[in-house]
Amino acid sequence: MNYKYTSRSVEDTLRVAENIESEKFPNMVICLEGDLGCGKTVFTKGFASALGIEETITSPTFTIIKEYMNGELPLYHMDVYRMESTEEDIGVEDYYNKGGITIIEWADLIESRLPSERLVIKFKVIDEDTRVLVFEPYGEQYEELCNAVL
Ligand SMILES: Nc1ncnc2c1ncn2[C@@H]1O[C@H](COP(=O)(O)OP(=O)(O)OP(=O)(O)O)[C@@H](O)[C@H]1O
Ligand SMILES: [Mg+2]
Repeated sequence: MNYKYTSRSVEDTLRVAENIESEKFPNMVICLEGDLGCGKTVFTKGFASALGIEETITSPTFTIIKEYMNGELPLYHMDVYRMESTEEDIGVEDYYNKGGITIIEWADLIESRLPSERLVIKFKVIDEDTRVLVFEPYGEQYEELCNAVL
């Protein structure tokens, strides 16, 4: 079952991220999909601050992955937009089972390398301030999570 949420502001998107964070578990994987500027990094910021991470979250567009170790659980923030053009293989799969939380921007670009159980969130830009978020849980844990918070 899919869930839909209409965000009418940055604050709305931050709040959704905080709500999902409140149901976190180790090895959680969240896949964010949608066009440039749709709010993937905004969502990640909300999640990170709810985790207690004080560092500023910046888009890891050139580094592909940033690790934040000082929150309640480790956060691995990936942006795979440019991954195909980078020489190094960062081994995304190695992060899924390290006990932390993995958030992947542009996850649809690495579909074949995603874990079978995950939460996919698709962002659609409606107008300057409005985004429709479609949640697609894969696996029982993620379905329960969506049930609990959406
Ligand atoms: N409802 C909303 N939710 C999230 N962001 C919004 C919303 N309304 C407007 N915005 C604006 O949209 C932009 C989202 O930027 P953000 O960096 O999060 O996009 P992104 O999806 O990470 O893009 P990229 O693919 O370049 O990494 C911000 O400038 C933010 O202020
Ligand atoms: Mg981004």
